[in-house]
Amino acid sequence: AKDPIRVLVTGAAGQIGYALVPMIARGVMLGADQPVILHMLDIPPASESLNGVKMELVDAAFPLLKGVVATTDVVEACTGVNIAVMVGGFPRKEGMERKDVMSKNVSIYKAQASALEKHAAANCKVLVVANPANTNALILKEFAPSIPEKNISCLTRLDHNRALGQISERLNVQVCDVKNVIIWGNHSSTQYPDVNHATVKTPGGDMPVRQLVADDDWLNEEFITTVQQRGAAIIKARKLSSALSAASAACDHIRDWVLGTPEGTFVSMGVYSDGSYNVPAGLIYSFPVTCCDGSGL
Ligand code: NAI
Repeated sequence: AKDPIRVLVTGAAGQIGYALVPMIARGVMLGADQPVILHMLDIPPASESLNGVKMELVDAAFPLLKGVVATTDVVEACTGVNIAVMVGGFPRKEGMERKDVMSKNVSIYKAQASALEKHAAANCKVLVVANPANTNALILKEFAPSIPEKNISCLTRLDHNRALGQISERLNVQVCDVKNVIIWGNHSSTQYPDVNHATVKTPGGDMPVRQLVADDDWLNEEFITTVQQRGAAIIKARKLSSALSAASAACDHIRDWVLGTPEGTFVSMGVYSDGSYNVPAGLIYSFPVTCCDGSGL
């Protein structure tokens, strides 16, 4: 049997956390034959609620779940983890400027970065979900200089999946037959969803999305704004921000990173720019990526 992999989820008592931890415990993230130990971190005001999540994990009797650490101690949470999914953060509240949120996050990410650097397993892979995701990932990178930059990423897979979803709805095809959209840039309304390399699997082979969607205006306008503003549309409808889709995207991101992207497929991830595609080096920016098995844990 395989050794368990330790997966940290910060902000585990929150909305995304509540959707994400059962997915991890069911093998959605790392595979149906991969045992896991969940590390869940939240802050003291959420500690009772975090404990409730732990009780539910016990009650769910997940065969792959070999242990649960639920804590408000950053060092205990980070110790020995192979994967860290950073969902916790300070939410922007009414009347707060972006820079106020940013300065709160700097202190949070500074502490969590040094705990990961000192106590996580060697080669720990980090995915930042909490907004502003690209910036938080960069802060984490700055404060954890010994973690290789290739091991620090942020989530734009939700935007990627939203783009696949919109194309599948428009063309009335299965979403699993659509691939190779690209999200460029930030996980924010400034992102650029790009369909120029996207294809749909048809009985006659892969066909370009541009060719199948004859309506260029839709592709150049409505498609782009729908993907850019989907988060706001979910908040409007649910009065809460995306959670199950964010959790599912986080699983997709880690699974492809650890187990490899399928042959001929690329996915979007926010990664440290080396200057490729003329994107300034040193930014955390969403690019098309492929991963091959063996990136290791
Ligand atoms: P939430 O408010 O329900 O949960 C956040 C949790 O983080 C709370 O339980 C809170 O107590 C905890 N927390 C706060 N400070 C913490 C700290 N210092 N250490 C550990 N935990 C801490 O929020 P939700 O809906 O789960 O969203 C979480 C984050 O994910 C938000 O920043 C949101 O904007 C972001 N997000 C990112 C997406 C992406 O695609 N990158 C998509 C959707 C949300």
